[in-house]
Amino acid sequence: MSEIKNVTVVGAGTMGSQIALQTALAGRYRVTLVDAVPGQLDRARAQNRKLVDRAVEKGRLTKEQADDTLGRIIDSDDLEAAAKGADLVIEAVIEEYDTKKSVFTALGNASRKDAILASNSSTIAISRLADLTGNAARCCNMHFFHPVTVMQLCEVVRGPKTSDATVNAATEFVRTIDRTPVVLNKEIWGFIVNRILFAASEEAMHLLEGGYASAEDIDTAVQKGLNWPMGPFHLLDFSGLDIFYGAMKDRHRQGEGGDAPEVLRKLVENGNLGRKTGKGFFEYPK
Ligand SMILES: NC(=O)c1ccc[n+]([C@@H]2O[C@H](COP(=O)([O-])OP(=O)(O)OC[C@H]3O[C@@H](n4cnc5c(N)ncnc54)[C@H](O)[C@@H]3O)[C@@H](O)[C@H]2O)c1
Repeated sequence: MSEIKNVTVVGAGTMGSQIALQTALAGRYRVTLVDAVPGQLDRARAQNRKLVDRAVEKGRLTKEQADDTLGRIIDSDDLEAAAKGADLVIEAVIEEYDTKKSVFTALGNASRKDAILASNSSTIAISRLADLTGNAARCCNMHFFHPVTVMQLCEVVRGPKTSDATVNAATEFVRTIDRTPVVLNKEIWGFIVNRILFAASEEAMHLLEGGYASAEDIDTAVQKGLNWPMGPFHLLDFSGLDIFYGAMKDRHRQGEGGDAPEVLRKLVENGNLGRKTGKGFFEYPK
């Protein structure tokens, strides 16, 4: 496995654009950011420009460092060409199995045989994609958190065929871009963080539905008693109830855990998706 110098990020949306930026900030990688939708690479560049400009205002970067960082990100709409030169590819396209399947098939055909191929998916384990590449040993999940430039963690997930060399190279890479890796040695739905978040959120909804306490008091209890920065209901509203509901449905389909609680289903079906719609478990007046 060769030293990582060239990193390709596939998908320039919420996650991919910031994974590319965080990688470029390390100063030692050439980054290629790929997207298939016209205009998306320009939007990603504009958002990353805002982030580095804010860092300059706050004195965390010089103007020159900000410009150099963005200069290290090359935009591309040609997945195969971008895969050819990469030592590490991080896939961050939409959470849709067929789309990820076609990306991993293309990566298997175009990338060097020793390049590491990682998926940032929150729910699609690498074992469902790795065999499409012809070399499952070099594939793993690298699950970053939103917003990548703020959230420290990256879960590196080993599939049944992932090699030690791949896990070691992926965790080392995460350290070099100033994030904190943890290794999940065996795949399991939700990895570590989302399993714990789901367990806590489900329990919070169970208490609410059973009339044991109000959403406000459950949040206060968790915030003040467990020292979480925000309680589970505020966190659900902040993340978007539709996202959480979809993930719970997916978990249930994959034979893990129960179906989504009634209180969540009703909110989502009525279009109350949390902060973004102005109402979820709480109200957010404009
Ligand atoms: N948003 C989050 O909070 C979050 C957190 C952790 C992990 N994830 C995971 O990250 C991945 C991306 O999520 P996101 O929120 O950034 O999605 P997003 O919808 O913001 O971005 C996805 C991008 O992929 C592009 N795309 C779609 N098909 C493509 C293709 N064939 N080739 C190249 N680009 C293509 C789209 O144009 C879009 O820009 C998902 O797998 C998701 O589970 C998301």
